[in-house]
Amino acid sequence: MALWGGRFTQEADIRFKKFNDSLVFDYRMARQDLEGSKGWADAICSVGIITEDENKRLQVALDELIAEVDQDPHSIAGAGFEDIHSYVESRLIDKVGDLGKKLHTGRSRNDQVATDLKLWCRAQVAVLLQSIRNFQKSLVKVADQYQGTVIPGYTHLQRAQPVTFGHWALAYAEMLDRDYIRLKNANDLMNRCPLGSAALAGTAYPVDREKLARALGFDEATRNSLDSVSDRDHVLELLNCASISMIHLSRFAEDLIIYNSGEAGFVELSDRVTSGSSLMPQKKNPDALELIRGKSGRVIGALTGMLVTVKALPLAYNKDLQEDKEGLFDALDTWHDCLDMASLVLEDLKVREDVTLQAAKGGYSNATELADYLVTKGIPFREAHHIVGEIVVYAIKEQQPLEKLTLEQFRSVCPKIDGDVYACLEISALLDKRCAKGGVAPAQIASAVEYMKKHLDC
Ligand code: ARG
Repeated sequence: MALWGGRFTQEADIRFKKFNDSLVFDYRMARQDLEGSKGWADAICSVGIITEDENKRLQVALDELIAEVDQDPHSIAGAGFEDIHSYVESRLIDKVGDLGKKLHTGRSRNDQVATDLKLWCRAQVAVLLQSIRNFQKSLVKVADQYQGTVIPGYTHLQRAQPVTFGHWALAYAEMLDRDYIRLKNANDLMNRCPLGSAALAGTAYPVDREKLARALGFDEATRNSLDSVSDRDHVLELLNCASISMIHLSRFAEDLIIYNSGEAGFVELSDRVTSGSSLMPQKKNPDALELIRGKSGRVIGALTGMLVTVKALPLAYNKDLQEDKEGLFDALDTWHDCLDMASLVLEDLKVREDVTLQAAKGGYSNATELADYLVTKGIPFREAHHIVGEIVVYAIKEQQPLEKLTLEQFRSVCPKIDGDVYACLEISALLDKRCAKGGVAPAQIASAVEYMKKHLDC
């Protein structure tokens, strides 16, 4: 059943076989292995290793196998072969007999697996780009709905200055936009075909590798065979893309967990994405969000694991590289699921606008406005900052927000304050002032929403 064995006199130990076999996970590349094989059959046909007629028979059999594996890819996993390449070759021999044994001429599993994995990554990237866009669209929808809903903005997790829920959602839409570009860039960079590099030194047949590369949808062929079979930069890059994006999703989840806490009560999560406690009947836990936050750990773990696996690996192929798949598959699946779950959480999220407004008014978050007001009265900002600090201490003692202090109270600290101070302490004035690009002024948010809608075509 193995692809090798001529030089062996003893059977592999069953424990070693289990340890060594990768079919249980690399079955997921069945389609890519078949597509790559079709390309390779054409390539060796064009240099006369197989005849046109033989190539036709191989192409038909490979197409049949594609249709078979597409039906139930998972059924291959338990077929007992060493890896997906052995499985495909053996199934091909079942179909076309000895002709199937010719396909591996000039090819090695080393360039085969490198090609399969790149093809698999490419297909996965297309799905992930779509999921990123979907989540961005959900964010923009929420941003549109809650454009003007005032919430406290935080630094150091202390109420700093009011922002709006729409502005908050757009912040994540921006992060995800970078994730999208990052993933696209990674995709562009890996778009060179290693097939024809054979085991390490290049195939011994004069195949047109550029033609082969383009037939498989790559931009061009790789330029160095040693690099081709040992390069897993694309795995690292996709894991990096996944990790950075998962960090964004984790921060998104964490923000909402805080907003959903009993202490804040800013948002209400739908029953569809929360769960109850087996003991405490009153509980409604933000499990979806906690799992998104939690799963970021395993994605970052997969990146770290792969970095360490590749570090100090001598050229060219080493079996260590078989460790590239499980972490990658799991990380990309996890990323994909978390993007979908994050969209689902947003679907019927409710923001309690009265609570967020109240909270935004608290915590002296209009103190900077008062300092700016004093600047308009001719006081240098550094001094104004100090005066406002004193006013805040006074207000805390009085248990009043700044806007509730009387003019006399203001003047007892700073005589330059007049009756026009109250207008600048209002939240709307505060928001309106942040009108430079990227600020929280209503007009800015409206144009940011419009920009994103156009950009995402929604
Ligand atoms: N299962 C192997 C992997 O994933 C395929 C390549 C095997 N190459 C070899 N020389 N044993 O890396």
